[in-house]
Amino acid sequence: MDAIRVRGGKPLVGKVKVSGAKNAALPILCATLLSDGESKLRNVPALRDIETTAALLRFLGRGVNVNAPEVVVEAGKDVRPEAPYELVKQMRASVLVLGPLLARFGRAKVSLPGGCAIGARPIDQHLKGFEAMGATIKLERGYVIAECGRLRGAEVCFDLPTVTGTENVMMAAALAKGRSTLVNCAREPEVEELARVLNKMGAEIDGAGTDVIHVRGREQGELLPFDHAIIPDRIEAGTYMCAAAMNEGSDVIVEGAEIQDLEALVLKMRQAGVEVSTEGQSIRIRRTGPIRSVNVTTAPHPGFPTDMQAQFLVLMTTAKGESVVSETIFENRMMHVPELQRMNADIALRGNTAVVSGPVKLTGASVMATDLRASASLIIAGLAAEGETEVRRVYHLDRGYEHIEAKLGALGASIERVKGAM
Ligand code: EPU
Repeated sequence: MDAIRVRGGKPLVGKVKVSGAKNAALPILCATLLSDGESKLRNVPALRDIETTAALLRFLGRGVNVNAPEVVVEAGKDVRPEAPYELVKQMRASVLVLGPLLARFGRAKVSLPGGCAIGARPIDQHLKGFEAMGATIKLERGYVIAECGRLRGAEVCFDLPTVTGTENVMMAAALAKGRSTLVNCAREPEVEELARVLNKMGAEIDGAGTDVIHVRGREQGELLPFDHAIIPDRIEAGTYMCAAAMNEGSDVIVEGAEIQDLEALVLKMRQAGVEVSTEGQSIRIRRTGPIRSVNVTTAPHPGFPTDMQAQFLVLMTTAKGESVVSETIFENRMMHVPELQRMNADIALRGNTAVVSGPVKLTGASVMATDLRASASLIIAGLAAEGETEVRRVYHLDRGYEHIEAKLGALGASIERVKGAM
């Protein structure tokens, strides 16, 4: 498996362009199942998760051409509404085919994703939504088997805001008979982006991006194929913003980022003493002096994103004083902490709260993480560490960051991919 080798200490200078949002592209690829025609997605990142979704759509019976940044899902009717464990276990977002399959074909058999590195991540809220719409749900041998004649519009109140749960139920509601009201929805920009695409297809959805979404269901055949360019990846943008803040003298322009989707991060970075300014669709990050400690607690959007927690925590190792970083979304999302401790970080971990004391001089080490954002945080740590850091099991990084070593290298980082490292 490849590794990424970083030599720390160099400020980053220059421009980096953000790719399309992985977590917007995945549900939108699944939404192509709501129509029989050929759909085209643009600005799709070249990532393993996109390949996995394409493989899943092919297994279901649709032709898919991935030629990032373009993906074409070919026209086709003969879909087998079944997602096997082999594909779902590679990527939890595969459960996003459940809503479209059920709405289109009245039946779906999709493997339960099981736990993952960051937590148990149940899908009970997705299932509760489908049941409210009239589906019967059975769990058999690790599979969800959902059946319905025709889904009917319903009132669904989620017990907690779930991003893919909101997306799954919203896609199902788009083809249900009558109106649906979804309450306590996730407000993430990716949910809003999916609604934008569904509306382009002919759906009638209001309120996406707020906690109440109204959907007026369409008849079979009324949702049409689409051509759509995916929004920029706010988490990739935020990751480069944190990377730029690690060394004094850095001056980086993150191009194609939507600052309104990154408000909580921008606020915290400014409190920490990082200069953040916007120029059109670009965000400029300058680090001209020391970093101050800041506390963060992750929360659903528009709160501080769990997907930025690891990267921001690394920045706090360079801050003067004590920062308290609390994770509230996933129960096992502090796996970067023991690796960072091996890099000389001073962090006391109590459950899901990390108390980070600094500033410390990080030192390079061989490190490894079993989750995407944790892996990115270790690369960021390597950028400021003395000596060489080797981040292993880059498999996770390749799921979510397009050409990360090339992008950081172009900013002046000393970074390379080592093919086939242990
Ligand atoms: N939850 C339930 N029941 C459900 C669904 C969720 O209890 O039926 C819980 C989860 O266990 C978690 C919380 O609700 O504690 C929020 O989870 P959510 O469902 O919102 O997460 P997700 O939809 O599975 C998406 C992103 C994640 C991101 C989270 C939170 C995609 C494909 N994935 O996951 O992205 O961390 O929202 O913002 O959109 C990543 O890109 O690295 C990543 C993990």
